[in-house]
Formats: sequence, C-alpha cells, structure tokens
Amino acid sequence: MNRPLANSRDTALLERARHVIPNGMWGHMATRYIAPGYPQFFSRSDGCRVWDADGNEYLDFMCAWGPNVLGYHHPQVEAAAMAQLRDVDAGNGPTEALVELAELLTGTLDHADWCMFQKNGTDATTACVTIARAGTGRRKVILARGAYHGAVPWCSPSVVGVTDEDRAHLIYFDWGNTTSLDAAVAQAGGDLAAIMLTGFRHDAGRDQEMPTTAFLRAARAHCDQAGAMLICDDVRAGFRLDVRGSWAAQGVKPDLAAYSKAIANGWPLAAIAGANSARDGAEKIFTTGSFWYGAAAMAAGLATVRILRDTDALTHTAAMGERLRTGLDQAAARHGFRLRQTGPAQMPMVLVDGDQDLRIGSALCLAALRHGIFLHPRHNMFLCAAHGPSEIDRAIEGVDAAFADIVAQGIVPA
Ligand SMILES: Cc1ncc(COP(=O)(O)O)c(C=O)c1O
Repeated sequence: MNRPLANSRDTALLERARHVIPNGMWGHMATRYIAPGYPQFFSRSDGCRVWDADGNEYLDFMCAWGPNVLGYHHPQVEAAAMAQLRDVDAGNGPTEALVELAELLTGTLDHADWCMFQKNGTDATTACVTIARAGTGRRKVILARGAYHGAVPWCSPSVVGVTDEDRAHLIYFDWGNTTSLDAAVAQAGGDLAAIMLTGFRHDAGRDQEMPTTAFLRAARAHCDQAGAMLICDDVRAGFRLDVRGSWAAQGVKPDLAAYSKAIANGWPLAAIAGANSARDGAEKIFTTGSFWYGAAAMAAGLATVRILRDTDALTHTAAMGERLRTGLDQAAARHGFRLRQTGPAQMPMVLVDGDQDLRIGSALCLAALRHGIFLHPRHNMFLCAAHGPSEIDRAIEGVDAAFADIVAQGIVPA
C-alpha cells in the first residue's frame, strides 16, 4: 500500500485553526513541530489503529503519546467508564471509585501507601514537588538536565513567560551520572527537598537509557541521608513497563511518584502515589481542581489497572516490541542503514545511525505514513496490547517499503 495521502480536510482544519487558535496549534502538537505531510487532526481510533481527519488509516505507534496501553476502546475499560458516566461523573464530590482506586493502587504499586488524583501528568509532578517541599520544609529540587516533567513555569522546556524566580530552587545534574548527582546534592546543602527522576531516560531526539540499580540506589541513599524525598516521575513509563511501578524490579522505592498517561487507557486521570514518608507533606498542601474527581476516568482506571495486573498485557506488549525491533533492524540493513533502537522495546526510540539532523529519520517516517504506519522520528514511540504479530509484521513491511522509497528519493546512509 503506497498511496498519496488525502489531506484536504486536515489542510482546511489547519487553515480554520489559524484564525481562532494562536499559531494554529500549541504544545507538542504545534504546527511547527509537525513535519509537512503529517496529519494534525484525527477522526477515529480503534485497537492499535488511528484514522486522520481525511479518513486515512494508520497502524499506530504513538498510542495517543502514551495513554493507549490496552488498545483504543478496550471493551472492559469502556464498559466500566460508560456505566459510571450513566450514574455520575462530575457531581458535588467524588464517588466510591476514588477510595476503590486508591486501594487498588496502594495494593498494586510496590511503593505506595496513599494516593491523590488529578487530571494531567503536570498536575501530578507539580504536586509531588509541592508535597516534598511541604513535608521537608526545604526548597531545593534536583532534576536531570533535559528531562521533561511538564509544561508549567517551574518545569516547562520553554523559558518564554518564565521568570528566574519560578526556577530559583532547581539544581540540574546529568541523568545517570552519580558524580554529577553527588555534586548537585552538595550544592543543595541542608536545603534539599527532593530529587526527581523519570522512570528511565526518555528525552526526545537521543538514545534512551535505563537507570542502573546503582544509580537509583545512589539517589535513594542521598535522599535518606538528607531527609529528602525521592520522586519518580512515572508519567510516561508508569503502567507500561511494570504495573508495580517502573523501579519495582530494581527494588528502589520512591517516596512519591507521579502517574498519568496509561493509568486509565486514555481517560483523563493522573495520580500522585506516596509512601508514608511523604504523607505529612501531602496532608499539609492545598491542591484541587474542577475535574479531578471525575468518576468515569476513575472507573476506567480501575478497569485498566486490574487488567494490567491480572493479564499478560504488558509482557505481550514487550514481546511485540522485541519483534518490531528485530524486524526494523533487518529492514534497515536490507537498505544499507543502521538503526539505534534504545530503551524498553514497548517504548522504542528509533534513530537512524549517523542521522545528526534527523533528516533521514524524518523522511523515513513521512514515507511510512504513505504505507499506513504512524511513527515518530524523534520522540519515543509506544506499543499497546492490541498490537499483535500480524500488525507488527505489517508495520515492518511498511517500514521496509518506506526505506525503499527514501533510497529512491536519493537519501543514502550518513
Ligand atoms: C515524564 C513526563 N512527566 C510529565 C509529563 C507531563 O504530563 P502531561 O502532559 O499530562 O501534563 C509528561 C508528558 O509527556 C511526561 O512524559
């Protein structure tokens, strides 16, 4: 299937958007971040497929940028959410689902004794920082240089509209480097409130890195010694790698963790999950919102986490990721290219070796769209439980054909 993509509706929507939406779009969907030829508007999703506004169908490897973990419109999750919607979603307060979900999460996550809920990942990371400061009475927060924790002034990747004061108490270090972490801790002195780390290193446009146990233990030991909080920002990796939390296999427990994206298979929900060590801070802060107790998302969360806990959804997805990884390596080699595929196979970062400016990767992803495969050239991608062997094999064939297309365009290995 090599087809010219119809895009008249997408183009028309973009044109309309330009009049009523600043720049036509914002954030990671901003038009300037999307290569010409990539659809910006979508009309449908199902399983591991999405359809753009013009009706073009794609095998999807972005999974809504993370929320889709079981497959779009998973029947059990949808049934639970819809049943809750019929009773109450936004009422004058939460439903029983709040307590049930907190019980489920504290029973499933290996580090959590309590939970609070919000809507977006940024709400949860921000609350974790606030709780750590409230609990310790200190100000300094150590973050890895280049790590993404959200889009509000204390952590946005953009400094436009941000004051120095918004970030006055942040100290940066190099992810995974214990010497650099030691120096940051020394700089914080007696004012260290928290060290915040993502589940693994998944910065855009570079190879991903899993944390070594030694690195996580070093971060834990610093927090223990300083009486500070270790925060895991598991917004992106949480409920995708390990239902117990991304560091569970390494046996390192954060005091606080932020979850969102996959927690309710696409329904809007974020969780702050804490240990008793962080309960005091959580009890002191004020956090709320118009929609945090929406019960439908909590019902979806209950169904999602139970399925992830009780089935082989995550091991299946990891196996499909490995199948894709092997197939993509072989496809690249057939056309003289070499890929750098890093991080967990179910959250793959696929970069073309030597492609410094991502020109080859961008051309490849654009070509793949024409074969019905939706990839991303510089952000980690996502697989979900609805990807089966036949979809993976179809994707490999599509990427193989996309390599042939870019070679025909004169693009050669760097
Ligand atoms: C690691 C991490 N933290 C925080 C966030 C912010 O989440 P949200 O966009 O839901 O506010 C993201 C979003 O991509 C993320 O990947």
